[in-house]
Amino acid sequence: MQIYIGSDHGGYEMKNSLKDYLVSKGNDVTDLGCFSTDSIDYPDIAREVAEKVTENPGSRGVLICGTGIGMQIAANKIPGIRATVATDEHMAEMSRKHNDANVITLGGRTTEMEMAKKIVDKFLSTDFENEERHVRRVEKMMNMKNGEK
Ligand code: RB5
Repeated sequence: MQIYIGSDHGGYEMKNSLKDYLVSKGNDVTDLGCFSTDSIDYPDIAREVAEKVTENPGSRGVLICGTGIGMQIAANKIPGIRATVATDEHMAEMSRKHNDANVITLGGRTTEMEMAKKIVDKFLSTDFENEERHVRRVEKMMNMKNGEK
C-alpha cells in the first residue's frame, strides 16, 4: 500500500520507527518529514501528508505529533480527509469500518511503540463496512462545509 507518513518533533522518533516497520512489511512509504528533532509546526506536515493522500486515491496517511490531536485537527481541514486519532486497536478498527478513515494520527508522547505498530496494522488491514448507513453518514460528513446549515 502507498503510505504517506509525517510528524512534528514530538512524533519524530515514532515516525522513523514506524516508517522502518511499514517498509519491512512491504509497503511503499513516503516520508514527508520532519527530518530532525528541531521544533516545527505540526499543521505544515499535516497539510503535506493530507494533500498527498487526497491526490493519490487508495493511499493512506500516518501522522504523529505529541498527542495525535493537533495532527488530527489539522489534517481534517483538507477536503477529502477523514483523519482520526487512535490510542488502541479498537479505535483504529472502527475508524476504518464505520468512518472510512484515510489518515490515522498517533501520539509519540502518549502511546508506546508496540501499541503504535498494532494500531497502524489494524488501520491498514481493515476495510470500510460498505453498508448503506455508513456510506450515508460518511457522505454527510464529507458534504459539510464551515458555517453551512
Ligand atoms: C508540540 O509540543 C505539541 O504541541 C504537538 O506535538 C502536538 O502534541 C499537538 O497536538
